[in-house]
Amino acid sequence: MQGVNIAVVGATGLVGTVFLSILEERHFPARSLKLFASARSAGKRVPVGDRTYVVEEVTGAESFRGMDIVFISADTGVSKRLAPLAVQAGAVVIDDSSAFRMEPDVPLVVPEVNAADLRGHRGIIAIPNCSTTPLVMVLHALRQAAAIERVVAATYQSVSGTGRAAVEELMEQSRAALEGRDIAPKAYLHPIAFNVLPQIDDFLENGYTKEEWKMVTETRKILHLPDLALSATCVRVPVKVCHSEAVQVELSKPVSPEEARALLAKMPGVRVLDEPERNEYPMPRLLAGTDNVYVGRIRKDASHPRGLAMWVVADNLRKGAALNAIQIAEELIKQGAFQAKSASTGSARAV
Ligand SMILES: NC(=O)c1ccc[n+]([C@@H]2O[C@H](COP(=O)([O-])OP(=O)(O)OC[C@H]3O[C@@H](n4cnc5c(N)ncnc54)[C@H](OP(=O)(O)O)[C@@H]3O)[C@@H](O)[C@H]2O)c1
Repeated sequence: MQGVNIAVVGATGLVGTVFLSILEERHFPARSLKLFASARSAGKRVPVGDRTYVVEEVTGAESFRGMDIVFISADTGVSKRLAPLAVQAGAVVIDDSSAFRMEPDVPLVVPEVNAADLRGHRGIIAIPNCSTTPLVMVLHALRQAAAIERVVAATYQSVSGTGRAAVEELMEQSRAALEGRDIAPKAYLHPIAFNVLPQIDDFLENGYTKEEWKMVTETRKILHLPDLALSATCVRVPVKVCHSEAVQVELSKPVSPEEARALLAKMPGVRVLDEPERNEYPMPRLLAGTDNVYVGRIRKDASHPRGLAMWVVADNLRKGAALNAIQIAEELIKQGAFQAKSASTGSARAV
């Protein structure tokens, strides 16, 4: 295996920018790298490692010719338009958007949980929503002890989950509010500074929002539990990076908090941070920029004999998006997915 040719669509976005730095941190075996964004960014120069790349606009399938993997991190419309072109050009697409997640022939993957689902993909692989990923990692650890019967989750999602424009809006609105000025909201329907918004995405007929329903359907798909009872309330909070979740889990038999801590500590990609006597627990300000899913406040659910309650925090830009996509690519490489293609071409260059 001599390295792979990769393209990143959405390279100038919040996730795209983090993605490029994780490629470097992990010495991802990229033989070549192409960066794409919208026409607004075409010609922009982006440093990656010791090289500078010029951002291009996608002109058609020919933009992806020779690529092994195309990472798409833009929006649903862009993914729907460009993913088929990349597949047509012979690449595997790893897509961050919700465009393909629930399609039956598209694996929806968190490598620590269901890497085996990658086998037999038909060219497009999706990553889950940034609130689903931490949840399934925690549930997967717990189900080693007992079956998961019901889950209730409330999220506290940071503005970076909405992209660069929303982060700028939180900063500007916060400054304006402190100065006694009002700024009309653009990224959200209501002001986000000094507020919490109990609506992420549009409402569905069943009273849930699309974001909440994504957590339900994606969790069921990843865990292969099509009937899992799950109720979510998704809330946007004025935090820059990291999504937090209050999670209650009902299991098929009682699992003690000590047993749960041991299972979570053993789970790859999960860390237990649970020292209530020292007031230590996961918090976004502490954990932004980290790669693991952190779990604390683990306790017996006082309202249910087989219930556990806990608090979960993860960096939505890293494990919630860019890192998960890169780990999928690493897994594909490990499975030998690009060996035949790479045999005839040049040497690897770690960006
Ligand atoms: N943010 C998160 O926590 C998170 C987590 C999981 C999944 N995701 C998903 O990841 C994707 C990107 O999110 P983000 O937060 O990085 O958004 P963002 O900061 O708004 O960045 C969007 C990126 O898409 C590019 N883009 C827009 N229109 C394009 C077009 N027509 N062709 C090619 N590129 C285009 C933008 O380029 P310009 O700079 O030129 O406008 C920019 O690079 C979304 O699908 C989102 O749902 C995000």
